[in-house]
Amino acid sequence: MLRVLALVSGGGTNLQAIIDAVAAEKIQNAELVGVISNNKTVKSLERAKNAGIPAFSVSPKDFENRELFYEAFLDKVNECRPDLIVLAGFLVAIPPKMVAQYSGRIINIHPSLIPSFCGVGYFGLKVHEKALERGVKVTGATVHFVTEGMDEGPIIAQKAVYIEDNDTPEILQRRVMEQAEWILLPQAIDDIANDRIEIRDGKVIRK
Ligand code: GRF
Repeated sequence: MLRVLALVSGGGTNLQAIIDAVAAEKIQNAELVGVISNNKTVKSLERAKNAGIPAFSVSPKDFENRELFYEAFLDKVNECRPDLIVLAGFLVAIPPKMVAQYSGRIINIHPSLIPSFCGVGYFGLKVHEKALERGVKVTGATVHFVTEGMDEGPIIAQKAVYIEDNDTPEILQRRVMEQAEWILLPQAIDDIANDRIEIRDGKVIRK
């Protein structure tokens, strides 16, 4: 059983998609062993508790500086003994020490087709605002391994979503979630749990 730890910051609809996929056995050979948020009050923690998954929060507000927060956060991560860490709407940059310790074992979902609309400052609604501003006709979502560079790691899977003329950032965000994110992320976890993919020369290939 692959021990999966989810890191979250917000509403947790991607977390819910993972919880549901495990329950429906669409994800096999994996169990959610914990959920950690950087925010004490988010809906994600409630979703975890409702599903009987240990839920924790480690908030930067409780620490004197960023270093101490990162240290406590990494301690909590290590306590969960994860085989795979899933950033499911996690808005904190992963410190290099953690990336190094869990190299090849952290994945992230990003709500655009990387390398478009990604990198520093591209998170949440901003991503969709920028896509609409540019007038692209197709966007989507990407699941990728996490490396030190923001949104730069090997791409595991992508799914395209069409933009419609009257889209607002909120409408588009919802469509990207429904048509891409909630499908891609559970699939990627299932692929990793069942040893179907590997990284070769910086790219993800199917075995
Ligand atoms: C998603 O759009 C995800 O791609 C991005 O943050 C959002 C999180 O939504 N990284 P939720 O908390 O899973 O509902």
